[in-house]
Amino acid sequence: MDAAYKRVNGDYSPEEETGEPGTGKRRNSYLEEDTSRKSEVITCIFSLKEEVGALAKALRLFEDNGINLTHIESRPSRMNKEEYEFFISVEPSCSQALDEVIDSLRTQISGHVHELSRNKQKDTVPWFPKDIQDLDRFANQILSYGSELDADHPGFKDPVYRARRKEFADIAYNYRHGQAIPRMEYTEEEKATWGVVFRELKALYPTHACREHNRVFPLLEEYCGYKPDNIPQLEDVSRFLQSCTGFRLRPVAGLLSSRDFLAGLAFRVFHSTQYIRHGSEPTYTPEPDVCHELLGHVPLFADPGFAQFSQEIGLASLGAPDEYIEKLATVYWFTVEYGLCKQGSDIKVYGAGLLSSFGELKYCLTDKPQLKPFDPEKTSQQKYPITEYQPVYFIAESFEDAKEKVRKFAATIPRPFSVRYNPYTQSIEVLNNTQQLTNLADCVHSELGKLCEALKKLQKQSLIEDARRERIGSGSAGPCAGPSRSGDGAVFEEKDGRVTVSVLFALSNEKNSGFFQTGKIFETFEAKLLHVESRPRRKSKFGGLPDLEFFMSCEVHRSDLDVFINSLKRVADDVRAVPEEKAPWFPRQIKDLDRCNLLITKFDPDLHCDHPGYNDSEYRKRRAAISELAFRYKQGDPLPTVEYTAEEISTWRKVYQQLRSVYPSLACRQFLDSLQQLEDECGYGDDGIPQLRDVSAFLKEKTGFQLRPVAGLLSARDFLASLAFRVFQCTQYIRHPSSPMHSPEPDCCHELLGHIPMLGDREFAQFSQEIGLASLGASDEEIEKLSTLYWFTVEFGLCKQNGEVKAYGAGLLSSYGELVYALSNEPEYKPFNPEETAVQPYQDQTYQSVYFVSESFEDAKVKLRKYSANIKRPFAVRYDPFTCSVEVLDQPSKVQNALIQVREDLKTLHSALEKLSSS
Ligand SMILES: [Fe+2]
Ligand SMILES: [Fe+2]
Repeated sequence: MDAAYKRVNGDYSPEEETGEPGTGKRRNSYLEEDTSRKSEVITCIFSLKEEVGALAKALRLFEDNGINLTHIESRPSRMNKEEYEFFISVEPSCSQALDEVIDSLRTQISGHVHELSRNKQKDTVPWFPKDIQDLDRFANQILSYGSELDADHPGFKDPVYRARRKEFADIAYNYRHGQAIPRMEYTEEEKATWGVVFRELKALYPTHACREHNRVFPLLEEYCGYKPDNIPQLEDVSRFLQSCTGFRLRPVAGLLSSRDFLAGLAFRVFHSTQYIRHGSEPTYTPEPDVCHELLGHVPLFADPGFAQFSQEIGLASLGAPDEYIEKLATVYWFTVEYGLCKQGSDIKVYGAGLLSSFGELKYCLTDKPQLKPFDPEKTSQQKYPITEYQPVYFIAESFEDAKEKVRKFAATIPRPFSVRYNPYTQSIEVLNNTQQLTNLADCVHSELGKLCEALKKLQKQSLIEDARRERIGSGSAGPCAGPSRSGDGAVFEEKDGRVTVSVLFALSNEKNSGFFQTGKIFETFEAKLLHVESRPRRKSKFGGLPDLEFFMSCEVHRSDLDVFINSLKRVADDVRAVPEEKAPWFPRQIKDLDRCNLLITKFDPDLHCDHPGYNDSEYRKRRAAISELAFRYKQGDPLPTVEYTAEEISTWRKVYQQLRSVYPSLACRQFLDSLQQLEDECGYGDDGIPQLRDVSAFLKEKTGFQLRPVAGLLSARDFLASLAFRVFQCTQYIRHPSSPMHSPEPDCCHELLGHIPMLGDREFAQFSQEIGLASLGASDEEIEKLSTLYWFTVEFGLCKQNGEVKAYGAGLLSSYGELVYALSNEPEYKPFNPEETAVQPYQDQTYQSVYFVSESFEDAKVKLRKYSANIKRPFAVRYDPFTCSVEVLDQPSKVQNALIQVREDLKTLHSALEKLSSS
């Protein structure tokens, strides 16, 4: 929504919106409304070129269509001097006829119907997108198409340029969410234009742009092909942004309405142009182009604080009345486009309109323009020119401060509900009932738990800090620190026969000779010193001057280690080798899951003679082919589809029919609800095996879970790690037809029938993710316990519902025999209690002898949280759903950042509660 977005403009989409008969939605109107309501008058504004007879011609259209005007007003257009604007009201009964008139106004008189608004009943909330896919609807709601240039556009008379613009517009017009943005081969001329802009602006950034812009720009040069002779591809930039803040780009074919444009920001989606300005005037463009987007906007969207700020404006716009959209658009204008901010004692630029305009970037920091503090209430009413430099700029204290102010401003927008963005499902949640507030409160609770865990662990690690403070407190000066960790049973990291070892020892301070002697020992053993610290020893043996404690980290040859330590013991006291707290590797980013593919092959049909498919070479060949699909899969690839054979489908049918018949009485409510949805929306049934691709898309929308194919049974560590990312590793082959009711290993029946419905339940999804997060970096012993816990819950869990025991474990829900058995009175039931469950022996050959029954999911989740907070790891982790990455909370600043998100959620919760209680 740049200069051009603000201009008076007319033509709507070249094609009709997909018809939705019976819904009462009007085509071409960006506000969804119920036209069955006839009680209100309809108002409309159109503008006409100032020429003799224009109005008469327009009025005749109304007459011809039998429309009775109830009111008409005119005024000179503020946007275009040669035009007049007309405001009219008509009877609601004329609604349909008005559509015809509007069409004719556009086609016959080339009048610009630049705003089409109809009075709605007061309680009608303008339509807004709820899912990220809904943004696809904006593609055909553009206010003008890319190739339609105004007469004063530098490219107006250049047919080649216009054709090129159409090419770009077509790409965007056909773009749908989830697709890669098509790569463009830019011409030499286009690259030359870019080069001019790039060089000029880059020279100004160090002195003019804000810290955030300058921090990100070199990264864009390194990773996204930002250089003078190359126009970066939107797809590369979009991926980069997603990894930084979850922002993504979406190509746009023309001008969007403010409402649509702002709504995109609520999803962290930025509508970006892909064409470049006309080559005749490289330093000027009357509208946003790729230079403006890539140089002005993109660097800022990679900053977490700015990303939050922008999203806040977007969220405020959803369902807001038209006049507030106008205000928010103005706020956007003076911040995201033309904002300045304080940084230290300087004023720097963060607005993209400035950062992409050589002239204005220099001008805005001179003493010519007027500077005002950013205050959304006032800023939103500021008038501004769109064709010349701004006379007024607003200065934000910081992004954080600006975000707070926008949030407060948003609270004044009359909306009967609060909204929240759910980054897992990429959807907007309208918080208008207590269930939703409970869900949100639960998220906050979970996050806070992780932060408390992180803080506790940070406390343990702050021994060095303590020592430093002690020293400062006692009046001694100088840098001083001590051992940070202590313990026995050193764990060493080994590489090429050399190990890293941390040693602690104390030396008498009477003479420094001890220190020199230790130095000699290091020399003798060729120990490479990596780090050394000292601090006063707390208990001095000798009185007088305090002894010193030393902490040294060094690399030494493994075979020398014992002698090395013994030598140290001869000259120093209290020599201890300190365990390096090395946590096992774990994935930090979702793409790291490509490395989590350690298979347990104990059930492989190739290897085990008791596998039902062992003697069936056709089956084994089939398995190998399907495994190959999984081996080749990389995170982000489209999920492979498998053309199932008639025999495979027949196996599925048998399993499906038999299990389906007992679900209603034995499965838990969440399972049944979800299965019903899968049957209604995802092709579940006995006539075909659902494809992972469809199921994954279904889950993504429900709970943010997604699938990835796996060739067989994974190691517990790898399997659990993927749950932390809400990724479920899913087999795609089916059991051997000779044994439809039993499979020794997970197969697609187990996954699709046992696991998938449960993963479609919000609470269960969170529960599963929490097990996953608890596993990251945990010791083998803890992993063993967690996988036992997983076994007795996710695979074989039972829970109480309305006084009855029901199954929620996938191992049960995909095995007719065991499902019936587990809910008979034969097996032993124990109440779910993580400590006990985690050490319960189990086997995977026959039915379980013990099942654990939880009071409810909620109960299981709460207990599990407590359990996982006590898992031994030197750090706490949290998942960032925007960037799909795991954050290790090992520094106070990281905990603080995480806290900001919690605070946001708490505020949302607070305002939603207020609205709920006042309604
Ligand atoms: Fe812009
Ligand atoms: Fe399973």
